[in-house]
Amino acid sequence: MSTMNFADRPRVDARDKVLGTNMYGADFALPGMLHAMTVPAGINKGKLVAVDVSAARKVAGVVRIFTSEDFAPSNSADHMPPSTITDFVMSRGQMVAFVVAETLEAAIEAVETVEVSYEPIPFVALMNGKDAKREAAEGVRYGDAANAMAGAAVVHEAEYVSPPQHHNPIELLSTTANYVAGELTIWEGSQNTGGLRAFLAASLGLPLDKVIVKSPSIGGGFGQKGDTGRHSAMTARAAIALGRPVKFVMPRPQIFDTASFRPKSVHRIKLGADRNGRMVAMQYGVDQQQSQYGWFPPKDYHDVPVQMYDFGSYEGMSANLRIDTQAPGYMRAPHAQGPSFAFESAIDELAEKLQLDPVALRLQHDLARDPVTGKPLSSRHLNECLSEGARRFGWERRSARPGSMRLPDGTLVGMGVGCGAYPGLAAPSVVTLRIGADGTTRYSASGHEMGQGIRTTIAATLIGKLAIDPAKIEIVIGDTSAAPQHMTAGSWGTASAVSAAAVAADRLNVQMNELLAGREIPGNLHEKLRKIRRPFLSVDATQFAPGQDAKVLDQLRGAGWISAGPAYPDFTTFSYVAHFVEVHVEPTTRRIRVPRVVSIADCGRVISPRTSASQLKGGIIWGISAALREETHVDPKYGGWLNNDLADYVVAVNADIGDIEVGFIDKPDPVFNAMGAKGLGEVVMVGVSAAVANAVYHATGTRIRKLPLLVEDLL
Ligand code: MOS
Repeated sequence: MSTMNFADRPRVDARDKVLGTNMYGADFALPGMLHAMTVPAGINKGKLVAVDVSAARKVAGVVRIFTSEDFAPSNSADHMPPSTITDFVMSRGQMVAFVVAETLEAAIEAVETVEVSYEPIPFVALMNGKDAKREAAEGVRYGDAANAMAGAAVVHEAEYVSPPQHHNPIELLSTTANYVAGELTIWEGSQNTGGLRAFLAASLGLPLDKVIVKSPSIGGGFGQKGDTGRHSAMTARAAIALGRPVKFVMPRPQIFDTASFRPKSVHRIKLGADRNGRMVAMQYGVDQQQSQYGWFPPKDYHDVPVQMYDFGSYEGMSANLRIDTQAPGYMRAPHAQGPSFAFESAIDELAEKLQLDPVALRLQHDLARDPVTGKPLSSRHLNECLSEGARRFGWERRSARPGSMRLPDGTLVGMGVGCGAYPGLAAPSVVTLRIGADGTTRYSASGHEMGQGIRTTIAATLIGKLAIDPAKIEIVIGDTSAAPQHMTAGSWGTASAVSAAAVAADRLNVQMNELLAGREIPGNLHEKLRKIRRPFLSVDATQFAPGQDAKVLDQLRGAGWISAGPAYPDFTTFSYVAHFVEVHVEPTTRRIRVPRVVSIADCGRVISPRTSASQLKGGIIWGISAALREETHVDPKYGGWLNNDLADYVVAVNADIGDIEVGFIDKPDPVFNAMGAKGLGEVVMVGVSAAVANAVYHATGTRIRKLPLLVEDLL
């Protein structure tokens, strides 16, 4: 099976998407449904003194207004997980009132009349503020980096900065709640329906089996929709209290203030090499912007850098800088984006000092083993990504000297390379496969469709193994009533989902053969079932990540987050990518354009050529956007974010993106799983921003060590 090649099929939901018939969290409308809107806190830190809702109560159509007075008092440390309205504001935009009305218009009109008075408390807005609390965290190391660095003949040392950034999926955060006969049903765009169910059951005091969460499709998750939020709990509380369905859709500016974001990170890198261009040591300290109580782990910034190349030795340190902001968290390639910009820039800077081609330097430092654990890597084809990418890009046409390539009109041309890796994670999956004599196939499983195409990969696996009607496959995922749901994140979705689908399909074929007991019946499985007068055949299967066993199923039913990897009992797994970027810099205005990118990825076996190519292009586009456009600005005086909407938080648009050519090594990793598939969703973005920065340096001779790269940095 691991040698099976997958055909380029359309997405199974392509037609629905084009027709707009896919159902997202806020698309579910129920009879008698009420609409909610929130009053966000107008200070960054402090106590609520009074929330005057008297005018709001008089707005026609207002049904109920929830404030902190509806809940037991809290203290400032009562922070996780937030499921009520508290009288202490931890960060700007936190919900201070929740208005429920017959119409959305009435709810909006009412919130605008609410008067809130506060007792503000001094706060720290900036990571480099003098009152930011520095808290050293764990590190990662192998070898004796200090000693090796002392003996290095060539050293490069610099500091790189990745700014705060916010993910802006098209689909806003929303919750629709309905409570009937003691059973709560939630429709919400969520990557973590199992975790959301557990959070709601615990915070509302409901039995787990009385909470159902459905997230049939998501309009972009990227880590933002893995969190469980106060708005979900408040919408559910309102539905229970009022006995009517309630819908809440969060306005985008509130999402900037309340959802997770990519924190600012500062990277101090020291790289040492010997006289022959052999790297001997990396010393790397990273600090991140952190909230007062957030737990997003700084140590994980080292996960990818330490696995990129053979540095000889590695000493990684990390720290939180605690300030008054909302909790930072996961955002596509969460711990890899900042570091990859930093160290893939640093590798280029070292290559220049060594007078080596930056592709050659990378090729010479391949790894066969995880340098931290010493375990073998289950597969690694980074050098093939580099070689194939360089060939397709035409790297040999690059002249090494910065500023030496120009178009006839004087435009400066730069060519840059940047590589990436991402941990090969996996999660257990519990599935039911049911083939009907009526021609249908129903497959229920753990996993969420975030737009990445997980349903298409499951369908490809089923079609590849089963003689079934491909037009009548129903795939039910992201639904806690259909299967236990894990958090789908960390690029573990597809590899986990297709492994389970393969096991179920194999099992079904075995059972069918047993049923047939040697009889030769022509036709597909549906026709065979009809002939033997069986209405359907159904199998269950459970697939674990390597090293996991049935013990994790209890956790899966409760928490929804039980991924494993990248270090497994016998091996370590990573995905890899190499990006080649051409930039054009206008010589006078210094405007940067990216006319051309070639990227080659190693994600093991490609299960869906169509959705994989889309993922790769999407990651490259985001990497360009992160390199040239995206930064969320902290308001230093009042706290919170200054550019908290899509007019001011600038992302790359069509005009910013040129030709993107993508390719895959497509070599299966059968050690990782029987299908040979590794993750793809995050690795695709890793290293793009560095490739852009390296290309800008090559075009101009100006090295910019912070993102985004702006025109003014080049003037
Ligand atoms: Mo992702 S940032 O793990 O959804």
